Amino acid sequence: MMNRKRMMTGLAVLLLSTVAFAQTHRFDIDLKKAGAPIQPTMYGIFFEDINFAADGGLYAELVKNRSFEYPQDPLQGWKAFGKVEVRADGPFERCPHYVRLANPGHREKWTGLDNEGWFGIGVKGGETYRFTVWARVPEGGKSSLRVELVNTASMGEDQFVCQENLIVSGSDWKQYEVILTPSETLEKGVLRIFLTGDRRTVDLEHVSLFPTDTWMGHRNGLRQDLAQALADLHPGIFRFPGGCIVEGADLPTRYNWKNTVGPVENRPLNENRWEYTFPHRFFPDYFQSYGLGFFEFFQLAEEIGSEPLPILSCGLACQFQNEADEAHCPVDELQPFIQDALDLIEFANGPATSAWGKVRADMGHPEPFGLKFIGIGNEQWGPEYPEHLEPFVRAIRAAYPDIRIVGSSGPNSEGEQFDYLWPEMKRLGADLVDEHFYRPESWFLAQGARYDNYDRKGPKVFAGEYACHGRGRKYNHFHASLLEAAFMTTIERNADIVHMATYAPLFAHVEGWQWRPDLIWYDNLRSMRTASWHVQQLYSTYKGQNVLTLKMDGVNVTGAEGQDGLFASAVQDGNKVYVKVINTSEAPQDVELAFGGLKKKETVRAVERIDFTSDLLYEDNTLDDPCRISPVKGNFAGEGKALSATVPPLCFTVFVITK
Ligand code: AHR
Repeated sequence: MMNRKRMMTGLAVLLLSTVAFAQTHRFDIDLKKAGAPIQPTMYGIFFEDINFAADGGLYAELVKNRSFEYPQDPLQGWKAFGKVEVRADGPFERCPHYVRLANPGHREKWTGLDNEGWFGIGVKGGETYRFTVWARVPEGGKSSLRVELVNTASMGEDQFVCQENLIVSGSDWKQYEVILTPSETLEKGVLRIFLTGDRRTVDLEHVSLFPTDTWMGHRNGLRQDLAQALADLHPGIFRFPGGCIVEGADLPTRYNWKNTVGPVENRPLNENRWEYTFPHRFFPDYFQSYGLGFFEFFQLAEEIGSEPLPILSCGLACQFQNEADEAHCPVDELQPFIQDALDLIEFANGPATSAWGKVRADMGHPEPFGLKFIGIGNEQWGPEYPEHLEPFVRAIRAAYPDIRIVGSSGPNSEGEQFDYLWPEMKRLGADLVDEHFYRPESWFLAQGARYDNYDRKGPKVFAGEYACHGRGRKYNHFHASLLEAAFMTTIERNADIVHMATYAPLFAHVEGWQWRPDLIWYDNLRSMRTASWHVQQLYSTYKGQNVLTLKMDGVNVTGAEGQDGLFASAVQDGNKVYVKVINTSEAPQDVELAFGGLKKKETVRAVERIDFTSDLLYEDNTLDDPCRISPVKGNFAGEGKALSATVPPLCFTVFVITK
């Protein structure tokens, strides 16, 4: 793989000769008139349970198949030993399976279960973990269990790194809890539970293990480091739960939000379409426990200061995977789907006395979540999409006129379907249109002016899924992130029409991914923020409040021919100005930031600059070296009506200036 250093050596002679003649690029920035406001929702996050983003990822549960509901094998993820029986008349009607552990019939034999977690159970030495289980002694009386975290690869005398006893008493189902404190860190530990004492028969259901240190301390909580990586993006909008998962490979397995709320013990398991969508990245044990459900999404949105944006099924199953009409819900039978959308708005915003508002209140949030947006349909296309969307729009408008509706322009960034759907969205009165583009370098380099001439009278734009998929380099690397930064100048410059943008996908487990690049990677103990994460973070940190006009030779700086690979945009934030310049060329570029609209004696002052560049052009941060590609703050000095600077080759620079 050629890195930037080698490339630069190869170009050295050429650069030396060109630098001598390099012209200074004068950017005229007009301070007289603040342009369009930049929406608080502008930069956000897109969550989908792909790449083990929920179970095994953000959702901090450590026990796989905790309710014994995996359909092919209720003991998938478990190793049973001794006398273990799976039964199906448990206390939770929508998760009916549980296990019965009985006396193995011999003093030297044992009955119990090991759980393997997702790619192992990761625990940190000295930290505390909450083990809970629903249990009963069917014949009454008491039974005792040993609960351990074990290192099966240990060469020490003991395999366990912690163990606790748990006494179960009585024939009624009750929840029990013990706190485990492992003495050492295990990346791939195992949870072991077995009968001890007189080994009286015991029944176990919903076996769960969470770190006590979850995001915001919630018991049904999220992994602290991953939630923090989201909060640090300062996302204005939080789209969930996907993506294709909204649609399902078939309608019965679409994401059904009503199955994801209420007590976690009674949320029915769903398959995960990413289990088998790509046969070359196949994960036969990938399901959705729905432990991370719509309540948890709304709660997280609130805690990280974003507007929630749920996307619901429009009654069309994934059109990539279903050609037959019968796969989809006929338009005249859509009422249950429409009701799901109306009920969701009530769940989010209704008073605690309303039917769905009460479900929310019972979960611990009597105050409304203040939902403002809802998306109907993901990547749908053809006339069937507007036909399906129309009755949703009518029903939502009638019941909730203030809710803003997001429609879709299909899976492509341009082309026949895209050109058909945009006018259709306008006709139906969608408030925003969700555009998707996973495209190569050439596309990103050519899109610097994408939104400059969009129809200002139609719906607003939600750039809802995008990432630079390098040609031959469809993995995370710095150069791809640089081109994303370049593209984002057109989003920022056109903030009057682009109201939201979310990179996708968000998360990936290094041992469980189906799709890349992704924004944040992790294993069981560590996580890493990619170069693309830093680009998103720089844009949201230096978001500003209003667009400022920035021109070079009277035109926008969009990487167009003759602009030396430069892209630029400028915003105002109170008395501060942020100028973003992306130099996609391999030569340094001199720029002069010339400020118009100042009074005679007024000047501007340089405050600082943030440079984001790397010699590791085709690499990214790693779990072992998570900060090697990071933005660097530097000196930017000067005062006057114009400021001069050099933007290094292949660099994204943010200039901070005060008025
Ligand atoms: O982000 C991964 C997938 O890409 C999404 O599920 C889908 O909407 C798109 O095709």
